[in-house]
Amino acid sequence: MKQKILQRPRRLRKSDILRSMVRETRISKDSLVYPFFVTEGNNIKEEIKTMPGQYRWSVDRLSELFKELSEHGVKSVLIFGIPDKKDECGSGAWSKDGIIQKALRYIKKNFPDIFCVTDVCMCEYTSHGHCGILDGDYVDNDKTLEVLAKTALSHAEAGADMVAPSDMMDGRIGAIRKELDKNEFYNIPIMAYSVKYSSAFYGPFRDAADSAPSFGDRKSYQMDFHNVREAIIESGLDISEGADILMVKPGMAYLDVLTKIKEKFNKPVALYSVSGEYSMIKAGAKLGYIDEMSVVGESAVCMYRAGADILITYYAMEIAGLIDEGKIG
Ligand code: PBG
Repeated sequence: MKQKILQRPRRLRKSDILRSMVRETRISKDSLVYPFFVTEGNNIKEEIKTMPGQYRWSVDRLSELFKELSEHGVKSVLIFGIPDKKDECGSGAWSKDGIIQKALRYIKKNFPDIFCVTDVCMCEYTSHGHCGILDGDYVDNDKTLEVLAKTALSHAEAGADMVAPSDMMDGRIGAIRKELDKNEFYNIPIMAYSVKYSSAFYGPFRDAADSAPSFGDRKSYQMDFHNVREAIIESGLDISEGADILMVKPGMAYLDVLTKIKEKFNKPVALYSVSGEYSMIKAGAKLGYIDEMSVVGESAVCMYRAGADILITYYAMEIAGLIDEGKIG
């Protein structure tokens, strides 16, 4: 006996065509950003132990990566540099011949259509591994602003299309905007790591970039993961200082934060699904506990559903592949 049930949500789940017709989230390759590591030296494509499938690339081999990206239709990258020398103040970050600057010049010359975002931070360049200039054991906020502004300017001069400060100093968006404008880079947008938590999910990245702090942790500048009101304060400040895009980081465990930021502010919001998220999926798949590509596709869609306009992920090419195959989209 059939019951009289007027509303049967299962009706719209009956076939593939119908399910895809009523989908609430649509995703596109245009919003994917692929992060990668570029290192000094020649002929290097070195796999990162804690991030299988991700590599440290020397500039002379980048064309292999860029061909792969364009085959997948991924148009944007986020570049991290691994210098061969570090010092107390991280001077390699703004050097004209720094690793990021060299990589940018190469990419802009050979792959002008790729959109290059650069991570602006000091931790890969300082001998102590902290994201700024030290005063004793404390990262001095205002001294750090000067070097961040110089670094962002040197990226713009070398060809960056957008800069992304990830240091979490107070006032850094304002300091960078002022420096860029003073040098007539009015049209270089800033994607602010506005809501960056102090997170154990960055573990594999620090191995990849050799950027773990040599003492202490980053809790005096990155956010406490117990907090969400603070995320709203940080985002509001960044907009008032000139940020064009807000970012929430990490991804997976922080989607409530993303949704709140998206509802509250009228700016594009990026989500950074970080190294630890990538490595967990890889490890689970390697053990045979989960199906890698199904989990990758599902988590990507969920990140967009939660509100991401832009997704920064080491799985960008695989996600593009899943979109091409019609598995998600
Ligand atoms: C630099 C920076 C980090 C990440 C992005 N930019 C590391 C950190 O803050 O310790 C992490 C990205 C990832 O884990 O994939 N400050």
